[in-house]
Amino acid sequence: MIEATGQTRDLAALTRLAETSVELILQLQDPSGGYPASPTFSAYSGFCWFRDGAFIADGMSAAGAVESANGFFDWCGRILLDRESQVIEIVAAAAAGSPVADSRMLPTRFTLAGDDGDDDWWDFQLDGYGTWLWAVVQHSKRHGLDLARWSRAIELSVDYLASSWQRPCFDWWEENADRVHVSTLGCIAAGLGAVADAGILDAARRQKAHAVNASIGTTILEHGLTDAHLAKWLGSDRVDASLLAMVSPLGVFPATESVGSATIEAIDRELTVGGGVHRYLSDTFFGGGQWPLLSCMLGLAFADAGDRVRAFEQLDWAAATATERGELPEQVAQHLLDPSMKQEWVDRWGSVATPLLWSHAMYIRLAVELGVLEVIDA
Ligand code: BGC
Repeated sequence: MIEATGQTRDLAALTRLAETSVELILQLQDPSGGYPASPTFSAYSGFCWFRDGAFIADGMSAAGAVESANGFFDWCGRILLDRESQVIEIVAAAAAGSPVADSRMLPTRFTLAGDDGDDDWWDFQLDGYGTWLWAVVQHSKRHGLDLARWSRAIELSVDYLASSWQRPCFDWWEENADRVHVSTLGCIAAGLGAVADAGILDAARRQKAHAVNASIGTTILEHGLTDAHLAKWLGSDRVDASLLAMVSPLGVFPATESVGSATIEAIDRELTVGGGVHRYLSDTFFGGGQWPLLSCMLGLAFADAGDRVRAFEQLDWAAATATERGELPEQVAQHLLDPSMKQEWVDRWGSVATPLLWSHAMYIRLAVELGVLEVIDA
């Protein structure tokens, strides 16, 4: 037992969980580079999401697993290059004032082999295309890597997002397709802002990326705030825990500035119970439990705000959700918002996705941030 931040905790156990998390992700990563969202969960098995994958790659990159992250970004790159003509068509249609239908936009998830899925899914989501851009730039900076390896895929992503960022689409939770979500906008801004300054774009695209990034910032400040903190969607007076990522790790609204700090406070007050973070108040998915990956994002936000005590508490809470085999689930049922809905989801999809690689990745990311996991060489 070691004294960390004034509280007695088993630091070695926290470190072990971070190490086994890295190993688990390395083992489960497909040879194609794609990360399965959850290897066994019926609805996710065989698929890799741009959103989950970008955060997983960022966690692995932060832990020093350079080749794993490279592999994922190569997977993204191949997917985008394979769909170059589709992106060109989407961009041209938007420029001509007749945007393509949602069903012609890029999906949120692909098979590990990089194909579109052939079952129905809530596929039109823009956030992942911003998040992968952000993550690949962080990765190249962290490890001194040349972004040229992914240059055409980066250009296609910039063109795609710049043409379509204003469109309503499904949110992080694959819901509310008729809204423009502040988290989605934040992911796009993070990606465009990161690549605009990364020295990889030609002048016209650099200018476009800067301009859209600035427009998103204005849009959020004018329509995406409620009570001085970030709101779930433009015009909403609700909060959503996905907004934590805008504070950290994406840093679009830093923890030390007013919007970021008010957002941390609001999510801590409204969606956090004993360290466990709910997605949003009316969540009924598997009864609306608490998500370790969101608890880790809250921990990252506390860390950025300089509050290591609260950040460590979040790491503790997430670690305590691990199963005996050291697997982190998508959510836990300690505090359900609507217990009556749990069974319906179990009947439909089986028990909660475990392990969820994104949960492991956010745990790794916070563990690295707090010095609990030493950066490895893999
Ligand atoms: C979540 C998504 C996630 C997907 C795969 C869904 O239930 O709402 O955010 O990308 O699972 O993990």
